[in-house]
Amino acid sequence: MEKGLSTILDGRSLSELIRQEIKQEIDHHVASGRRPPALAVVLVGEDPASQVYVANKQKACEKVGIRSLPYFLPSNTTTQELLELIAQLNAEEQVDGILVQLPLPPHINSQEVITAINPSKDVDGFHPENMGKLVARMEGGFVPCTPLGIDLLLKHYGVELKGKDVVVVGEGFIVGRPLSLLLLWRGATVSICHIHTKDISQYTKRAEVLISATGVPGLIKAHMVREGAVVVDIGISRVGDRIMGDVDFEEVKEKASAITPVPGGVGPMTVSALLLNTLKAYRKRLGLLG
Ligand code: GUN
Repeated sequence: MEKGLSTILDGRSLSELIRQEIKQEIDHHVASGRRPPALAVVLVGEDPASQVYVANKQKACEKVGIRSLPYFLPSNTTTQELLELIAQLNAEEQVDGILVQLPLPPHINSQEVITAINPSKDVDGFHPENMGKLVARMEGGFVPCTPLGIDLLLKHYGVELKGKDVVVVGEGFIVGRPLSLLLLWRGATVSICHIHTKDISQYTKRAEVLISATGVPGLIKAHMVREGAVVVDIGISRVGDRIMGDVDFEEVKEKASAITPVPGGVGPMTVSALLLNTLKAYRKRLGLLG
């Protein structure tokens, strides 16, 4: 491949297609006299980044015909109060999905809150039952949104994972760990680098598919990337008035065969995966076929 001609893995365009299909299906259900799907969106506190993410998710829901039900709570909300809200949403027949935006304020027991969500409404896929299904390779659970979005993006662009050396930088609960399991499921040989990895470039240089989810802007430089690698950037960091990924895009695009931009790569795919998971929860609740 000529230098500088790497394929841009355009999550924005693919998202547009996915969302059109979701909207068509929902329009069809509503035209048939069914209620529209509904997603409860819970945000505790005033973290500006979380406020932006939640606003994006709500806007995306409304555009495809999913009702988004906002539950915006003050930062001094207690674990008990949040558990009571979750119980109420679990019992509400009209609510198909429950999304609790993370991170929660440090005084709240996040694990307890996530575990309290009915697994059939856990469209984020963070409940141990859904995470367990990913480990056990059981169909029918919810796969967390960023891993699912990346899987769809790579599939769309024909990136084969079977037998490939894939390196994931970052082992977080939201992305790195569930993504690594999904990649294993797809037949990749997965290495996971994390904060205690001695020399991450030793791993990244060997990767046929390199995926970074650290939130450290510009961490991945060209010298750390194998010629012709597929590079997926999950980082979203605000640096001054710019949004930057983990990957030094200008440098790395010269070496990669394909690369996701930030913004416009994984971000929109994560939101589209949330819409897909919500539609899946709705279909199940109403006994509809996909
Ligand atoms: N915070 C960062 N990413 C996510 C996500 O995918 N879901 C939720 N609930 N919180 C997040």
